[in-house]
Formats: sequence, C-alpha cells, structure tokens
Amino acid sequence: MSTETTGLDVTDPETTVRYARCIELSKRVRWEIDRDVIRSRSFDFDQKFLPDGLTQLDRLQGYSASEKRLLSQIQGRTYANMFGMVERFINAKLLDVSREYWFGDQIALEALIRFSDEELKHQALFRRLEHLMAAGMAPGYQFVPEADPVARLVLSKSTWAVLALTCHIELFTQTHYQRSIHPDPELSELFRDVFRFHWKEESQHAVLDEIEWHREDARLTPAQRDAAVDDLIALMLAVDGLLRAQSESDVRYFIHRLGPRSPEQLDQLRAVMLRAYRWQYIVSGIEQPRFFQLLSGLLTEEQMNRVTHALTPLIG
Ligand SMILES: [Fe+2]
Ligand SMILES: [Fe+2]
Repeated sequence: MSTETTGLDVTDPETTVRYARCIELSKRVRWEIDRDVIRSRSFDFDQKFLPDGLTQLDRLQGYSASEKRLLSQIQGRTYANMFGMVERFINAKLLDVSREYWFGDQIALEALIRFSDEELKHQALFRRLEHLMAAGMAPGYQFVPEADPVARLVLSKSTWAVLALTCHIELFTQTHYQRSIHPDPELSELFRDVFRFHWKEESQHAVLDEIEWHREDARLTPAQRDAAVDDLIALMLAVDGLLRAQSESDVRYFIHRLGPRSPEQLDQLRAVMLRAYRWQYIVSGIEQPRFFQLLSGLLTEEQMNRVTHALTPLIG
C-alpha cells in the first residue's frame, strides 16, 4: 500500500514533530536501573511475579495455590528473559534503520539513538533480574533461546517483517502492563515496578516503530511486500518454536522442583503453559487493536487472510 492508504506521509513535518515528541517524552521519563527500579530490593518469593491475566493459570485444575505461585514465578522469569532476548534484534534493527538519518534529519536520528540506548539499558535490567531470580529459586531453570543466534535469524528476514514484529512486541508490552500487570494487587512490587518503568520507555518505542515500519512499507513494490508478509509469518512461527521449547523446559523445571505428576496432570500443565506463552508473545499482540489496525491498513485482504490462516493453529 502507498502512504496514501496508510495515512502517513513520512516526509511530512508532522512526522518530525512526532520524533521530537518522542525525544521530549524519553527525556521526561528517563530512569536508572539501581536508583529508580531495583532500589536495593530483592524478590519476595511469597508473591506472584506474572499476573493471572498473562499466566492463564486459572485454567489449571488440581494444582495448589503455592504450586501456581511457583508457576507464576517461573513464567515471570521467562517473561523477563524473553524481553532481554528480543531486545537484541530490536536494537540491531533500529541501529540499522538509523543510517537513513546519519545525514539530514538529526531529530529522527536522536530519537532512534535514544531508543537504542534505552534497549541496551533494558537488556542490562533483565540480566539483573535473572540474577535476582536465580538467587531465590532452586537451580535447574534454563532459558533456552540465545539472544545472538535468534537475532541473526530474525535479521536475515526483510526489514519490513522485522519492523512489523518489533511493533507487535512493543505494542503488546504496553497492553500487558496496563491491562494485567498494573491492576493485579498480588504481584511482587519489584516485578511490577520493573515493567512499569519498562512500559514508560516502550510507549515511545512503539510510536517510532510505527513511523519506521510505514517508511519502509512506502519503499516496497507490491511483490516485495507480498514476500515480506511471508517473512512475517515465518518469524511468528519461529517465535512459536521458541515458545514450545521454553514451555517444555519450564514444565521440566517445575516437575524437578515439586515432583512427578499423573500423566493427565502433566498433559494439562504442558497445554496450559504453551497456551499461556502463545497468548503472551503472539496472540495478545495480533489481537492488540492498534497492531491489527496497522497491519490491516498495510495488507490486502488476501494477505491478511494468509496471516490469520497461518496463526490460527496457535490461537487455539
Ligand atoms: Fe525494552
Ligand atoms: Fe522497546
């Protein structure tokens, strides 16, 4: 689609105003890991980490409250690690597109450099979280995906598809915080604070993703866009492969901690964990109203159907 149909003119001074607004907000909400977020705290393992709205543990029958609390902590640990992992390729792609502004629009360049700086800080924050969680949980937990190989695979796809995936992630991050993490009174305060501070900076990132995604879209021929849609589908399915591996690993860790279950209970646990991870990292993003609006604004009906058809088995 052209910029006419997306409603965004990337050469419009309005776009520069949006970059400038992102810089202003980025400066206003800026935080530091130790001074503002961690504040010498450690995790309280009598509390949940990830909220019910994301864990889907209310679907699990025959597990005690303390077992569900441990599952919410395992899912929370994976949640923090997942963000640390995806931010590797997000940052690399944003640095890649920033080359468009090395000369010329220095406001856009500053907005993207701040974005990159924030993602480096977020990765450091999530590494700190992993250490804090490991200190309070029995050994045996494993985060399966490795950030660099995953980033290399993602970045082998078209820029359009990587920016689409990035926009999807940065929009669902906000929805997760606003709808599920913020309102749950039973969560670890430290865990909630981490995602409150993260959300404050991600709000600007999603705006920049949208501008850069449209900008890239305006460059493509219909055939290139059509191929990029297949790339996006391939990326979503690759994410699903990671989720299958991680949910299996997290179930194994739980069983290792608390002992074997009946085959029926184990099957149920596996199904709920995979369903929860698909909800967190794929489905809640696809159904996010702004993302759906953006994607459907760029694609033809046939292309939208192709995406929906490919992802239907994951929606369950
Ligand atoms: Fe981030
Ligand atoms: Fe971000």
